[in-house]
Amino acid sequence: MSGPRTLAVETSCDETAVAVLDGDGRVEANLLASQIAAHAPYGGVVPELASREHLGSLPRLVEGALGAARGEIGLVAVTAGPGLLGALLVGVRFASAFAWARGLPLVAVDHLHGHLASPFLDLDGGAARAMPSRVLALVASGGHSSWYLCLDGEPRRLSRTRDDAAGESLDKVAQVLGLPYPGGPVVDRLARLGDPGAVDLPRPRLADSALDVSFSGLKSAAIRFVRAHRLEGVGEDDPPMLALDLLASFERAVVDQLLAPAAELVAEHRPDLIAASGGVAANTLLRRRLGLVGEATGVEVLLPPLALTTDNAAMIGRAGQLDHARGRSADPRRLDAHARRAWQPPGMRKLPSPGGVR
Ligand code: KG4
Ligand code: ZN
Repeated sequence: MSGPRTLAVETSCDETAVAVLDGDGRVEANLLASQIAAHAPYGGVVPELASREHLGSLPRLVEGALGAARGEIGLVAVTAGPGLLGALLVGVRFASAFAWARGLPLVAVDHLHGHLASPFLDLDGGAARAMPSRVLALVASGGHSSWYLCLDGEPRRLSRTRDDAAGESLDKVAQVLGLPYPGGPVVDRLARLGDPGAVDLPRPRLADSALDVSFSGLKSAAIRFVRAHRLEGVGEDDPPMLALDLLASFERAVVDQLLAPAAELVAEHRPDLIAASGGVAANTLLRRRLGLVGEATGVEVLLPPLALTTDNAAMIGRAGQLDHARGRSADPRRLDAHARRAWQPPGMRKLPSPGGVR
């Protein structure tokens, strides 16, 4: 597929991101302004602050990305949901105005579809890889822990978490230990120093589903262990061995939970490829264990470049290109942002999604 060169904008949460992809999905620019420092004093993302930060960063990033583009832009892609409403609106309005003023087509991208597209991108100057027709895809982030079957690019959810997302549980346990937000990267680093067999943690299974998973019982057990051994607030500089052992054991249990449905899903759906994406797909142990799943099942495993696991605009640009190639578009005078998780961009097939599901 060679389509239009694409400007992509992502402002769904606390990273302002802008990218340019050529018509074959080659990444020409992938810029990011992190807001971690702005939100750090509050211990979490403050929605109003996120919107203001996006407003401040977006023009500069767009200018930088356009400067790096190797030709004319022919398409604008923007994340329209799900996410923080005010934050999304900044990107949607900016992208809509840009597209309208230049008479360019606009596509509204679902953030999840962006993550699903991320493993197919290359940051070393290569074209995006084509998606085979049957992809079994894990999305594990601060908001998602689900497996999808993407049939010719259309995702259908096969398994989900019934409570916390994997990243959310990592972040919460890290917070109790006094580790900086977001906890995932620090847990990844410190877990390498501990013994993953040292602390016995539960891996709860659901009585009514062999495929859905749960993280809250595991998270609570880890937090109880922290309190029982007075490890609250130990911090990242010189944590006691017991904290490192707990982190290694907890990380292993989280990865076990994420991968619990994998073998059954591969056997049932016979994918051409297994892919993983989302911030937690940066995790060292998860990447290694996915490789083992690939070896055991004989199915190729494809992971995104590390820089494209967490939120970025390159993935939104690629998802937008695939949507555009299917004839989807949005009206720049009418496009709105949608905060609900169940929301799908205009023209998208509705996914079955019971209320409150991530
Ligand atoms: O995809 P993402 O940037 O944002 C969401 O859409 O949620 O994912 C962020 C999540 C956070 O929970 C963060 O702690 C986690 O990804 N994360 C990691 C790692 N890097 C980021 N979790 C485990 N290991 C990592 N290396
Ligand atoms: Zn995300």
